[in-house]
Amino acid sequence: MANVPNLSLNDGNSIPQLGFGVFQVPPEDTARITGLAFEAGYRHIDTAQMYGNEKGVGEAIRDSGIARDDLFITSKLNNGFHEPDQARRAFDQSLADLGLDRLDLFLIHWPLPTQYGGDFVSTWKTLIEFQKDGRARSIGVSNFQPAHLARLAEETDVVPAVNQIEVHPYLGNEEARAANRAAGILTEAWSPIAQGGVLTDEVITKVAEQEGRTPAQVTLRWHLQRGDIIFPKSSSPERMAENFALFDFELDDAAMKAITALDRGEAGRTGPNPDTFDMIPD
Ligand SMILES: NC(=O)c1ccc[n+]([C@@H]2O[C@H](COP(=O)([O-])OP(=O)(O)OC[C@H]3O[C@@H](n4cnc5c(N)ncnc54)[C@H](OP(=O)(O)O)[C@@H]3O)[C@@H](O)[C@H]2O)c1
Repeated sequence: MANVPNLSLNDGNSIPQLGFGVFQVPPEDTARITGLAFEAGYRHIDTAQMYGNEKGVGEAIRDSGIARDDLFITSKLNNGFHEPDQARRAFDQSLADLGLDRLDLFLIHWPLPTQYGGDFVSTWKTLIEFQKDGRARSIGVSNFQPAHLARLAEETDVVPAVNQIEVHPYLGNEEARAANRAAGILTEAWSPIAQGGVLTDEVITKVAEQEGRTPAQVTLRWHLQRGDIIFPKSSSPERMAENFALFDFELDDAAMKAITALDRGEAGRTGPNPDTFDMIPD
C-alpha cells in the first residue's frame, strides 16, 4: 500500500512493516474479517497453522481480487509438527488451505527447547528446503531466544529473515531485539498493544493527548519508529482503520523515550516464556 514502508530482509526480499494479525479470529469469521482488513488497506496478513483459520484467509485472498504479488502472506508451523516429515506435510497443508502455491514467509512458531530432544535445528533445515524449492520466499522463526538463534548460526548456514517475538511497551524484549539486530534479523513485534493492555497506561494516554492521536496509534507508531514489523489484530473496521493511520505523524525523542521507559522486563510478559513453553496441540 501507498503509505506502508517496505523493509529489506536479509535474503533480498522485502516485507511491509505494517500488516494484520488473525490470532484468535474464529475460523468462521476469518474470511469476512480478513476481507475487511483488505478494504482498510492492509496487504500483509499474519496467520498460523495453530490459529486454525488459514482456509478463511485463503477465501478472503481469492474474494479480494488483489494481485498475488501485492500481498504478503505469513504462516507458521504447528508445534506438533517439528519432525521433518511432519513439517513437510504440514507445509503442504498450509499451502492447500490457503489456496496458494507459495508463501511470502514461513516461520517455526515456537522453538520448544524441551520437546523433540531440543532439536529445532532439523526443523529449521526443513524450512530451508521450502525456501530452496521456492514455495517459501522467506523463512524465519518466532519466539526464538538469543541462545536459540546462536544454535541455528552454528549448525546451519541460513540466517532467519525475521524473529517474531512478544514486544510492547511493557515488554521491550531488548536483549532479544539486540540479538536479532546483531544477526541481521528483523524483529516482528507480536501483541504490539499487549492485546489492549497498554492502552489505559498514564504515560501512553498522555502522549496520545499531546499528539491528538489514540493510545493504540501512538503505541503502534512507537514500534514503527523502533524499526519493528507489526500486525495488530482487530475485528472492527473502525479500529482496523485507526491502526492503519500511522504515517502522518511522528513521535519526538521525549515521547519515544517515555514509552520505552515503561518496560517492566519479564514482569511485562503476557504470553508464555519461550525457554519453557512446551505446548503441543492435541
Ligand atoms: N508468534 C506468536 O507466538 C504470536 C503470539 C501472539 C500474537 N501473534 C501475532 O501478532 C498479532 C497481534 O497480536 P494479538 O492479536 O495477540 O494482540 P494485539 O494486536 O496487541 O491486540 C489485539 C486486541 O486489541 C484490541 N484492539 C485492536 N486495536 C485496538 C484499538 N485501536 N483500540 C482498542 N483496542 C484495540 C482487539 O480487539 P478488537 O478485535 O475488538 O478490536 C484485540 O482484543 C496476532 O494476531 C498474531 O498474528 C503471534
